[in-house]
Amino acid sequence: MASDRPVAYTVYRDERQLPAIIALLEADLSEPYSIYTYRYFIHGWPSLCFLIPQGSVDRGRPIGVIVCKLDEHRGALRGYIGMLAVAPACRKRGIGSQLVRWAVDAMRDQRADEIVLETEAHNEKALRLYEQLGFVRDKRLYRYYLNGVDAFRLKLWTGIRLPTIDPQDGVEAEANKTAR
Ligand SMILES: CC(C)(COP(=O)(O)OP(=O)(O)OC[C@H]1O[C@@H](n2cnc3c(N)ncnc32)[C@H](O)[C@@H]1OP(=O)(O)O)[C@@H](O)C(=O)NCCC(=O)NCCS
Repeated sequence: MASDRPVAYTVYRDERQLPAIIALLEADLSEPYSIYTYRYFIHGWPSLCFLIPQGSVDRGRPIGVIVCKLDEHRGALRGYIGMLAVAPACRKRGIGSQLVRWAVDAMRDQRADEIVLETEAHNEKALRLYEQLGFVRDKRLYRYYLNGVDAFRLKLWTGIRLPTIDPQDGVEAEANKTAR
């Protein structure tokens, strides 16, 4: 239900948040990252690390996190979603989608031409989430991960507006149509 949808987020502020962020992310990673990889992303682009805390926005441990970067790639400004995770107990409530929307909006505000990410080719949940938000499968990357699993590179061209996935919107749109 739309009312379950989280509305409050915070962005990364300092190193004290890092252990809880890493714990959430590494529970489901396809391959281990070093602390330097986390720091590269999060310290390099703190405004593109969105956290949904449990409880107080200032102090709660994160139940959802998205980590991104934005830089030049072949003459374009490319946003990159490096990591995304939602705590298992909090999944299927729209949190993952909301995190992606915030990140996409922030990168679009910073004039990203495109936004890309890789996900395991068999990660149906992630593929569906991103495709519902307008990302398309750009490439299959064979044996991309250390465990030998293939990945899909997904891409969003930011000129395209994100569709809404609120089921209530569909109901309202139908109701408006028949009211006319
Ligand atoms: C992939 C992942 C981030 C999704 O997070 P999530 O918060 O469950 O995602 P959402 O709730 O936005 O969407 C997932 C599903 O919940 C549904 N949903 C969204 N809001 C809902 C609500 N209010 N009530 C019921 N279902 C809802 C969505 O329609 C979607 O269903 P579908 O996949 O059947 O279409 C999460 O499963 C995860 O952390 N996985 C491990 C890490 C990972 O795979 N990361 C991605 C690698 S790039």
